[in-house]
Amino acid sequence: MAAGTPTPDALVVGGGIVGLSVAWSACRAGVRVTLVDPAPGRGATWAAAGMLAPVTEVHFGEEALVALLLAAADAWPTFAADLEGATGRRVGLRTEGTLVVAADRSDRLAIDQVTLFQRSLGLPVTALTGRDCRTREPALAASVAGGADVPGDHQVDNRLVAEALVAACSDAGVTMVAQRAASLAVDGAGRATGVVLADGTVLGAGTVVLALGTAWQSLGGLPAPLVPPVRPVLGVTLRLRARGTALVPTRTVRGLVHGSVSYLVPRADGTVVVGATVEERGEPVEVTAGAVHGLLRDARTLVPSVDEYTLVDATAGLRPGTPDNGPVVGPVDLPGLVVAGGTYRNGILLAPLVGRGVADLLAGGAVDGPLAAFGPGRFAAGAGTPVPAAGARR
Ligand code: GLY
Repeated sequence: MAAGTPTPDALVVGGGIVGLSVAWSACRAGVRVTLVDPAPGRGATWAAAGMLAPVTEVHFGEEALVALLLAAADAWPTFAADLEGATGRRVGLRTEGTLVVAADRSDRLAIDQVTLFQRSLGLPVTALTGRDCRTREPALAASVAGGADVPGDHQVDNRLVAEALVAACSDAGVTMVAQRAASLAVDGAGRATGVVLADGTVLGAGTVVLALGTAWQSLGGLPAPLVPPVRPVLGVTLRLRARGTALVPTRTVRGLVHGSVSYLVPRADGTVVVGATVEERGEPVEVTAGAVHGLLRDARTLVPSVDEYTLVDATAGLRPGTPDNGPVVGPVDLPGLVVAGGTYRNGILLAPLVGRGVADLLAGGAVDGPLAAFGPGRFAAGAGTPVPAAGARR
């Protein structure tokens, strides 16, 4: 930052989709914001598939997440329109819905159970036969054994969103600092006052917002009890492109293939995003041959024409998972410090809502609505746990 630049009201550390959304929302609310990240919009944001899936990402034991994910989905159309209006860029919001499909009869039984659970929560899901599925999506394999129609689960092009948010932040007056924050600065009274960058520069701010994804250990000076319980869960996605007359699904297809989740997310430009591995590990953030093999094997089981697509890209990212699979958003027990993260499998979906919630906080209000149940205090020693522990993922 240039000498003489006034101290910002807020310093957002971390420029994934959550940090970018916080920065843009806060700036639009009149908060003077600096964002620190050496490569904003990359990491898990770049690896994601862009599914906005409040229904198909809800599983047994996660009832408390439902209201939050539905509210997050409601926020997307306005967020996308505002972002497109502000930047003149498209972000690829598609509302064709999602088809859940089973590769075999035992997958069908598992999907039927989840469908019943989702319907018991009042979510819009309709069970389908295999023939129903293929009528809707002729690209599906003849062996598909049934599934469900989920009209409310949509998608955006997460890479277009990330690029648009970087542009929107710059245009709106967010100061972008392309460096790594090395440590948190805390004054003698125990208040967060800014960060020290990797090159030794000290940046001050009224409030520091940590949107660190899975990189919490990379920031020195953060007292251990305040580090959110976030673990990395590596995911690999592929980007394929259909050639010639190869059939392509017209909406997101989420499959269960011999017990493993597989999804194909078709973009308007002919790209199909295939995901995703779920690997309980962090560094190195690399794509293994086994990951590519498994993703292609399952995708072509559901959509045989995948064999004819070209492989364009394979990207790995780290999902920030928490003990209850819910995000961690709000002030922590250190004045001047706010955390925003833990969005796990729903970072793209949750980002606008989290951005607005933290912007409200920075503008002098509070995090309210369904997000208020997902503060960092729920993980503090001795705290009651308002959000039920998560069941196993399918
Ligand atoms: N939300 C999809 C995934 O995390 O793979």
